[in-house]
Amino acid sequence: MAASSTIPAPLAVLLSGSGRTLDNLRAAIDRGDLPARVALVIASRECLGAEKARAAGIPTFVVPGAIPAHELGRLVRAHGVSPEPSPSTPAGWIVLAGYLKLVNIPPGFDGRVVNIHPALLPKFGGPGMHGRHVHQAVLAAGERESGCTVHLCDARFDTGPIVLQRRCPVLPSDTPDTLAARVFEQECIAFPEALVRLIAADKAR
Ligand code: GRF
Repeated sequence: MAASSTIPAPLAVLLSGSGRTLDNLRAAIDRGDLPARVALVIASRECLGAEKARAAGIPTFVVPGAIPAHELGRLVRAHGVSPEPSPSTPAGWIVLAGYLKLVNIPPGFDGRVVNIHPALLPKFGGPGMHGRHVHQAVLAAGERESGCTVHLCDARFDTGPIVLQRRCPVLPSDTPDTLAARVFEQECIAFPEALVRLIAADKAR
C-alpha cells in the first residue's frame, strides 16, 4: 500500500490573528476527521495564533510582513511540506488560516495554497476585505445570505478557483459580530471538509 494512503498530509499553516482556524483544523485532526498534521506555523506578526502554536509544540516562525516566495518555499520544505509526494510522505499544503498578507506562492506550490474567506466569493473579496470589514459590507449591501468560501490561491486576493462554499442566512437583527459568528460556524465545517477533499484527490492521482 502506498505510504500516502496512511500517513497524514503535512500542512504549513500561515496566520496573523487569533488562531481560531488553526484550533479548528487541529481539532478536526485530533477527532480523526482530517488526515493531516500541522508541520509548522508561520505568523506575519506576533499574535495569539503564534502563541497557541508554540504552546502546542508546533515549530512556529514569526516572519513580519509578507514572506518572500523563496523564503516560504525553503521554510515549508525544511519542515517536510513539499508539493510532491515522496514514498514516505504525502504531498503537502500551504493553508492560510487568517493570514492577512497576500501570499507569495513558492515555485512548485501553484494550486497547493488554500485559503478560507468569510463570504460567498466572488462577492465581498479583494484587498481590505477581511474580518469585520467583510461582514459590515455584507450587511450594508442588504444581503440575505452569506457564508464562507474555501479556495485555492493565485497571485491576487480571493480570486483563485473555489473548492467549496457553505451558506448561512443573514438576519435582520444581525450586527457584524453576530453574522461573523454564524459564518464562522460554517467555516469550522468547510475548511476541514475542503482539505479532506483535496488530500483525497492527491491520493487518487
Ligand atoms: C476567518 O474568518 C477566516 O475566514 C479568515 O480569517 C478568520 C480567522 O482568523 N481567513 P482567526 O483564525 O480568528 O485568526
